[in-house]
Amino acid sequence: MSQAETGSRAGLEIEVLEDSAALAHAAARRFVGLAHPSIDQRGRFAVALAGGSTPAGLYRLLAQEPYRGQVNWARTWVFFGDERCVPPDSRDSNYQMARETLLDHVPLPEANVFRIHGEWPPQRAADAYALQLRAKLKDEDQSWARFDLLLLGMGDDGHTASLFPGMPALAVMDQLVVATGVPEYVQPNVARVTLTLPLLNAAARVLFLVAGEKKAGAVARVLGRSQPAEPLPAGRVRPSGGALTWLLDRAAAQGLDRAAE
Ligand code: 6PG
Repeated sequence: MSQAETGSRAGLEIEVLEDSAALAHAAARRFVGLAHPSIDQRGRFAVALAGGSTPAGLYRLLAQEPYRGQVNWARTWVFFGDERCVPPDSRDSNYQMARETLLDHVPLPEANVFRIHGEWPPQRAADAYALQLRAKLKDEDQSWARFDLLLLGMGDDGHTASLFPGMPALAVMDQLVVATGVPEYVQPNVARVTLTLPLLNAAARVLFLVAGEKKAGAVARVLGRSQPAEPLPAGRVRPSGGALTWLLDRAAAQGLDRAAE
């Protein structure tokens, strides 16, 4: 199994910010800072957006000055780490959230937005997205599509993207994208389409955005000194040839053993 499929401990960086607003600004600065070299070196900045609510603060900042004018949106390609199987105009759609907070407010060509078709049958949407990723992102030296930046959140159960503890999708190592159900406690309780763990681990840089006291337990399990025997899904994101950064607010970091940083 190649390194990209199993992941390996890349350089782990943890930055703790005072609150979610400071976290959003720290993420915006990193977004801008990564866009420039990606475009200089590869002519494009391929970023996969995270869903949920935490990243909305980052997306709103990117849609306004000073950050908006610092990104070459014409050279930016926007993908999604996962999607709920709902129509694109649904309140539960990650694409809709990105549209409302960012995509409708920046000069990003429509052709540069690659959404997962949540309105299609899940497996068909997954297969189509995998083909699109391969077509747009296949690196000469890799069989995996490689994002320049992958944004991720984490649920209080330690899930990331739509890779949930105990669900089969977490174990899929030979696909880029899979359709999956969700545990009964998850809302919205709809099927999902998600990038797989090996694809997450193929990214050049992974940036987790995690805020709030409810996440403190999972953060401590993922980043604390004592690693659990069975790592949580978010704890298995360790980009093989890329960098890994966790941006936390104080509330989410409160359970961390400071020495682990
Ligand atoms: C989704 C996301 C999911 C999210 C976490 C954290 O589709 O909901 O992909 O993985 O990042 O659930 O969500 P919050 O940031 O809203 O807590």
